[in-house]
This record gives sequence, structure tokens and C-alpha cells, in this order.
Amino acid sequence: MKDRLLEVLKNVENFTAQNAEQVEEFRIKILGSKGILKDLLVDFKNVPNEEKKEIGQLINQIKDKAQSKIDAFKNTQDSQSKESIDIDLTKTPYPIEIGSLHPITLVKNQIVEIFSRIGFTVSDGPEIEDDWHNFSALNFPPEHPARDMQDTFFVESNNGEIALRTHTSSVQVRVMESQKPPIRTLSPGRVYRNEAISARAHCFFHQIEGLYIAENVSFADLKQTLLYFAKEMFGENTEIRLRPSYFPFTEPSAEVDVSCSVCNSKGCNICKYSGYLEILGCGMVDPKVLENCGIDSKKYTGFAFGMGVERIAMLKYKINDLRLFSEGDIRFLKQFKGSL
Ligand code: DAH
Repeated sequence: MKDRLLEVLKNVENFTAQNAEQVEEFRIKILGSKGILKDLLVDFKNVPNEEKKEIGQLINQIKDKAQSKIDAFKNTQDSQSKESIDIDLTKTPYPIEIGSLHPITLVKNQIVEIFSRIGFTVSDGPEIEDDWHNFSALNFPPEHPARDMQDTFFVESNNGEIALRTHTSSVQVRVMESQKPPIRTLSPGRVYRNEAISARAHCFFHQIEGLYIAENVSFADLKQTLLYFAKEMFGENTEIRLRPSYFPFTEPSAEVDVSCSVCNSKGCNICKYSGYLEILGCGMVDPKVLENCGIDSKKYTGFAFGMGVERIAMLKYKINDLRLFSEGDIRFLKQFKGSL
């Protein structure tokens, strides 16, 4: 048996191949399931105990040598084929990374879609706005402390008349001035405030304003509309809570919280252990505002609301730093590929 093994070993050591087929033939012949090695192992059972060690070592040598021959051939093949690839530099590199919508756009689209199902249209207004549309028509009198609620970027050389809009409520004025009730519209857009940038505040962000003006619109309509929205946005079991508040352009006014979907209102660090998260401000449009915009406040009533898109996106995607939305970091943005 030993002589046979030595001969096989010699053959393995002397083996050379011209192509991959020959290597494969060699592999099957030596290492294959019906190969020489298999036969040798069968015969190995009959080897007397005192020879087992030496014969065993020879069999292992054959196996290792054959395997290293095969590996060596594969390696030279690989490096040769790499060298011989001819690269066409005019071709488009693949795979092409397809861009995706920004999370703010995704959330805005979803909000618009939810309200469009109950008849809301979309309207647009300018980001550089005059005092009338941003403040005065909305019942912020000159020097009224309410103006301090919103630190404003004024545009120079206009005597404080022109500013970057501080909220999308300016668009409700434009809509009411140019349309007759019934009005049911959403105004999404970017707004600006002179705030120090932090994880929770930014000098620009996005809001969506809602406005509904018709005959006999009541606070109950407002509440029901917002409940519908909250359930569609955050899930069927979501509850809302209205807290009395103050805005110059609505009376009465409220701030709206939704039950925390992260902890099912049990209390967690996202809702600061209150079980609720604030998502928007709202109220019945002040009759004075209706009159300012040329709408008969004896005939018509209405409600308005305004929400921060970043805030909703943070709740929806559990994001804890507002700055991520405007830094354009591809590692952040990539995560929203295929969302919604
Ligand atoms: N404009 C308010 C803000 O920026 C949000 C708001 C509150 C809008 C109440 C409304 C409303 O339409 O009725 O904080």
C-alpha cells in the first residue's frame, strides 16, 4: 500500500495543468467522491495498526498537496483574468444609486394625502412676506407683544415691512383674500425664525397650515378633523388631547397633543413620561381676521391649524435631532429610501 501511495503522491506533485478543465479532471480523479483518495481511505481500514500512522500521514499529504495544486492554479487564473479585463472608461459605472425623497417631503406628502381624502386642496404663498400677511391681517397689532412670540428675519431697507415668513398662517390670509368660501385648503411650506440652532430648534423649518371656512363650521368639526388626521398619521388607537392656548388669529385657541405611540401613553423618554406629544396649534378663526380678509364673519365661521412637519417626522421616525433634516448627510437620508 505504501508503494501505491508514494506513486500517487509523485503523480500529484508532478501534475501541471494548461486549463481549468484539466484542473477539474484532476480534482475529480483525486479528491472527488469516487476518487483515488476515497479508495485509499477504504483500504486504510485494512492496514495493520502499527502501519496506520505512517500510511495515514501519506494519505493526508496526498490530500493537502492536491488541494494546494488546485488552489495555486485558481489563484494564477484569477490574477491573469484581472489583468486581461479591458476597462471601458466611457461606460456608466454600475450600480447607479437612485436618489430618494427627503423625509420632510415624505411626511409632507403623507399629510397632504390624508387631508386630500376629506376635500382639502393645496395652496402656496411666498416665503418673503409683507407685514400685512404675516402679522397685521392675523391680528398682531403693531408693537403687540404677540409679535415677540416669533423672532423674525426682516429684509433690510424695508422699514420692517418685509420679512421671511415666520409661519405658514400668512398663506391663509392670501387664500381668504382671493377665494370665496367654502374654503378647505392646506398650505405646506418653509418658514424662518431667528433662533439659535440646536437639536430642538432651527432658524428654518417646515409647517403645514390648514384652513376650513364655510357656514356653520364649529369647534367640534375642528376636533373631529384633527382626530381623523391623528389616527391616519399615527395609527387607529391614537387619541388626541386639546389644551387651551393663545394665538392672536384664533379664538378660542388650543394646542393639540397626540397619545405617544412609542410607549402607548405609558410614559417614555420620547414623550418625557407624559404619555402625550404636542403636534400642532389650532383654533376657530377670529372674526376680525375673517373681516380683514374680506369674508363676512356673520355668515361664515372656520377653523385653522398649523403643524411643524419636522416635529411630525421626528415622532414618526423617532429622530431626536432636528439638525439632521438640513445637513444633507447621505447616511441619514439613505435610510428613507423606499419609505411610504
Ligand atoms: N402659526 C402658529 C405657529 O407658527 C401655528 C398655528 C396656531 C397656526 C394656531 C394656526 C392656528 O392656523 O390656528 O406657531
